[in-house]
Amino acid sequence: MKVLYTAFECAPFFKTGGLGDVAGALPKALHKKGIETIVVLPYFSFIPDRFKDECQDVANFTLEVGWRQQYCGIKQLDFQGIRYYFIDNLYYFDRAEIYGYDDDVERFAFFQLAVIELMNRIDYIPDVLHVNDYHTAMIPFLLKEKYHWVEEYQAIRTVLTIHNIEFQGQYSSEILGDLFGVGQRRYNEGVIRWHNQLNFMKAGIAYANHVNTVSPSYAEEIKTSEFGAGLEIILQMEHQKLSGILNGIDYETNDPTTDPSLVAHFEVDDLTGKGLNKAELQRIMGLPEKSDVPIVAVVSRLTYQKGFHLLLEELEHLLQFDLQFVLLGTGDPRFEAAFRQITARYPEKSVAKITFDVTLAQKIYAGADLFLMPSSFEPCGLSQMIAMRYGTLPVVHEIGGLKDSVHPFNPVTGAGTGFGFEEFTGFYLTQSVKQALELYQKSPNVWKKIQRQAMTTDFSWDTSCQSYIDLYNRLLSK
Ligand code: GLC
Repeated sequence: MKVLYTAFECAPFFKTGGLGDVAGALPKALHKKGIETIVVLPYFSFIPDRFKDECQDVANFTLEVGWRQQYCGIKQLDFQGIRYYFIDNLYYFDRAEIYGYDDDVERFAFFQLAVIELMNRIDYIPDVLHVNDYHTAMIPFLLKEKYHWVEEYQAIRTVLTIHNIEFQGQYSSEILGDLFGVGQRRYNEGVIRWHNQLNFMKAGIAYANHVNTVSPSYAEEIKTSEFGAGLEIILQMEHQKLSGILNGIDYETNDPTTDPSLVAHFEVDDLTGKGLNKAELQRIMGLPEKSDVPIVAVVSRLTYQKGFHLLLEELEHLLQFDLQFVLLGTGDPRFEAAFRQITARYPEKSVAKITFDVTLAQKIYAGADLFLMPSSFEPCGLSQMIAMRYGTLPVVHEIGGLKDSVHPFNPVTGAGTGFGFEEFTGFYLTQSVKQALELYQKSPNVWKKIQRQAMTTDFSWDTSCQSYIDLYNRLLSK
């Protein structure tokens, strides 16, 4: 079986969030299981030099983006067993950021057309072409409506993974002709139209052979008006090709026994090192070094999705408890300012680092006791899984991937890997933090037991990857 995996961001080359982490990890896991996989990405000028130096030019040609004739270079890089192909064009990809430009849609169009043309140019015809989020969601449509005459492409099966349905890629229908060089027919029929706009995500859902989301619960949730962001109707209609597969986390970079960011390593049978990391974290954060005061942590983009309006409502109240609060992240300026303000009022027990710092993030996963993730919706979420692997117990809104990865502590059976609340209100958020704090302070043995359960849960890509392989196999046997 041959797979072509494509996304607009991918660790360790460039990423803004979880999509990049998944694109970095899943192909590697597929490769480990013997699946031939290539990954196709844009060649951003800010790719670290150590990768650029290793890239080889393998082809270049002129690509038609509507009426435009654009240079399209293909660079190849072999890294960790995977062959990466980068699509090179300075006009589109020599930018300071991945997203956020007025011509983003043209950049997405160029990239998607290039991915399709590349297959013939490098003579790699995959059995499965796996696209991710709206930036690449037009590919299944283009294969059927623009490239249907290319015989080599006719047997290709397409999979679309939805990492976040809130972002759909909505544009004027004129770009169908102007950028993709196709007619308006499917738009006029309504197949790829939503609210009088061309909708990339809807096109992907309609045309992909299979659609999956990054957790089983989210796959159910997006069929409802509460979470479907308007596309629930089409998802209900296409429910027979919709499923959910929980992401894994990268077990090599997120390993408390080897993580180079930590001052001491630790494992489930000996948590001494975790204590040292806690002291170090308190020192870095300028908080009193108290081993018996629980550290409640947040590492996140500060956005509405992540539920920070709820946390802000409750934060002053939570800060009355005997705890230390640390936050690391950037995002919505209003949230940034609010966290700065509140933490400044309680400097002896709280601190907000409004910045992006990968090393500090690992130190927090390792040194904290509780990890807060009150997301209003969460397709999967990766940090709660990293926290658990480092013995830091998550407090989550039981939704989407949070519900599928964190099992709330059950006082009767002793089962559980964290704490959760179902109803999205400040009251219930506080209740579950309170439950956790009480357990931390009064029942250290129960706490240790939950830590053990969290740390030994398997969040590796091994399992999730197998679900993708099974899915690919099912598609190919149809
Ligand atoms: C998006 C989602 C997040 C998920 C990630 C990777 O960022 O918001 O929940 O973990 O994609 O699939």
